[in-house]
Amino acid sequence: MIVLGIESSCDETGVALVEAAGTQVPRLRAHALHSQVEMHQAYGGVVPELASRDHIRRVLPLAQQVLDEAGCHLADVDVVAYTRGPGLAGALLVGAGVACALGAALGRPVLGVHHLEGHLLSPFLSADPPAFPFIALLVSGGHTQLMQVEGVGRYTLLGETIDDAAGEAFDKSAKLLGLAYPGGPALSRLAEQGDPAAFKLPRPLLHSGDLDFSFAGLKTAVLTQVHKLGDALEQRKADLAASTEAAIVEVLVKKSLAALERSGLRRIVVAGGVGANRRLRSQLDAACARRGVRVHYPELALCTDNGAMIALAAAMRLQGGVQQARADYAFDVRPR
Ligand code: KG4
Ligand code: ZN
Repeated sequence: MIVLGIESSCDETGVALVEAAGTQVPRLRAHALHSQVEMHQAYGGVVPELASRDHIRRVLPLAQQVLDEAGCHLADVDVVAYTRGPGLAGALLVGAGVACALGAALGRPVLGVHHLEGHLLSPFLSADPPAFPFIALLVSGGHTQLMQVEGVGRYTLLGETIDDAAGEAFDKSAKLLGLAYPGGPALSRLAEQGDPAAFKLPRPLLHSGDLDFSFAGLKTAVLTQVHKLGDALEQRKADLAASTEAAIVEVLVKKSLAALERSGLRRIVVAGGVGANRRLRSQLDAACARRGVRVHYPELALCTDNGAMIALAAAMRLQGGVQQARADYAFDVRPR
């Protein structure tokens, strides 16, 4: 079974081909990505209308690129998958519309996938795929969640952010420091030259006893520091970046450990854009190594949005009989 996957929920157009045989973990045949980051940079954030238009321009050439790379023809595709949500409505409609048009033209069924399920399953495409069950820490620009994962489609939400997502905390803090969009990676790079203990910043909900997160207060604390520093900000910027990163990472690591402890599980998967963060990886790896817990990450290139995770999630849902692909082409999207 060959699945063509299309991701267009935000500012990356991703297309991929995965091949699934029997119950084996699907194999990635090819994937291609076009990032709109440069286009949105001038505006300091994603402009939804521009995002939709760019997805339209990119998606078919990217599809042709992955078919060429995999040595496949469109007629070899058995199922077309797309991101159904959450995301920007107009951007999602591009992927859904193209997927349904391709499906209808080829006479193949289509399947809409939850973007977060794509992130959550993405480590299955790594050289060291996890085994069920496991804890999942989902940390993206829009979500921060801890889940208990028993199998494909069997997810229990253990805790989530009550305000900003971890990626949002990175991005908003970065903006306050005058760093270019997208702020997360930029703040992280700057943090490498700073002292993570230089500023005392809050660790919201660290001792709340539940598995929820809150990052809105951290952003306010960073703003207060920026005001206090005034002209001195430039010299202390790296220290403030490092302290911000340390605060976010400490909360993510502590809550992940609490989720592992509560569930009794000894495996954790980290997925979503913030999963690319170096400090998060090193701190979580160290803490888990001490406890004999295995940590699984997606390949670095598949941490942020991509088409491979969408094709993969569709293939795994079909393999597990969790969902059937549809041939009525009555596509819908779920922005929220
Ligand atoms: O999963 P993703 O690509 O898109 C969403 O589904 O939201 O995640 C994007 C988020 C952004 O907030 C970005 O700043 C953050 O992930 N991010 C990082 C790093 N790389 C991406 N945050 C911290 N450190 C990084 N290295
Ligand atoms: Zn994402």
